[in-house]
Amino acid sequence: MSTPTFLHPFAPPTKPADEFLSIVSGDGATVTDSDGKVYIDAMASLWYANVGYGRSEIADAVAEQMKKIAGFHTFSSFTNPAVDALADRIGDLSPHDHPRVFFCCSGSEAVDSAMKIARIAQAQGGHPERTVIISRERAYHGVAYGGTSASGLPPNRIGFGPFLGDVVNVDPDDLAKMEAALSEHSGEIAAVITEPVQGAGGVYPPEDGYLEGLRQLCDRHGAYLIFDEVITGFGRLGTWFASQRFGVTPDLTTFAKAVTSGYQPLGGVVVGDAIADSLTADPDFVFRHGFTYSGHPAVCAAAMANIDIIEREGLLARIPGIESKFRDGLGALRERGLVTDVRGIGAMWAVSLPVGVSEADVFSHMLGAGVIARSLPATITLCPPLVITDAQIDQVLAALEAALSS
Ligand SMILES: Cc1ncc(COP(=O)(O)O)c(C=O)c1O
Repeated sequence: MSTPTFLHPFAPPTKPADEFLSIVSGDGATVTDSDGKVYIDAMASLWYANVGYGRSEIADAVAEQMKKIAGFHTFSSFTNPAVDALADRIGDLSPHDHPRVFFCCSGSEAVDSAMKIARIAQAQGGHPERTVIISRERAYHGVAYGGTSASGLPPNRIGFGPFLGDVVNVDPDDLAKMEAALSEHSGEIAAVITEPVQGAGGVYPPEDGYLEGLRQLCDRHGAYLIFDEVITGFGRLGTWFASQRFGVTPDLTTFAKAVTSGYQPLGGVVVGDAIADSLTADPDFVFRHGFTYSGHPAVCAAAMANIDIIEREGLLARIPGIESKFRDGLGALRERGLVTDVRGIGAMWAVSLPVGVSEADVFSHMLGAGVIARSLPATITLCPPLVITDAQIDQVLAALEAALSS
């Protein structure tokens, strides 16, 4: 079988076309392949389908907007009602009093935008020498050059260098090492970037007090704090943003994925009060950053309809139930020695596999049983749509248990 014309992300370019599973439709927490086989999607696609599949009201909202005008740019002099309404809505959901909201089309663009906004805000605040950005090992911040430079996953960097200067990667858990890095670069730091819960690095919730400590360190060292909430934003931990669950407010918040549950590609950055003040201090300053599709009206319409669903169906309130079912179910697998570690919070979970158990085998076995999980090195992750039913969670846990026992 020959290779497909489509060059797949994160796949060997030599992989034959017939080894890809073609997904053709979806409904609730399930998707269907081109042979008609139905799967429970235990990964919300790629950590994003929070409201699940088959929501025709989102399609209708996009179509309605496209019939009026599909797209018109928002550079310099233009705006549109859809982007203004969405910015207000996301600003209201955020932990800030007077936020500004920037839009782009992906999490990677959101991360690179946040890194640039942190640097320009430092410069506008009178500190152009503050250019260093500190990130954590195990971090995944997307694949653009800023995010790849800040990545804490070495395999994702191989062959793509040289990277952005002044980006420093430090121990992921040890606040003393973070403090040492801040001290070493004292007076030069623009920002610290972190996922509140590290996701693609293997689902690592923060140690108790870690995020509070980071906030204090940033304040002490004049650094902005960036939360990369591309996975955690829009409900995954039971609050609109993870910052609200942990009670720690960053200066910048990136989002993407669940802001539209994947019905359209959208990302963005919530700019908190301190940085908003810095950007507006000089009336002659022009913010020379933005994408052709920043504030694309049809995409914004999808986000509005998606947020309406999350609110109307009370999906955030489903999280405690989902969390306890995964905590108990995966904990039981650990008790039996089938997995060596269980990590997670909200609707974001991972298990570490015993030595000798292949993640690819576990993934394939689960797929055969009609459950889509995700395999990472020595790890299986689970991050279902928030509409997953209790019975479906039981099926996911049973498929994982069967794969591990086989
Ligand atoms: C925390 C985080 N940041 C950034 C990204 C990149 O987002 P995208 O793939 O939409 O560019 C991801 C994607 O998984 C992510 O998990």
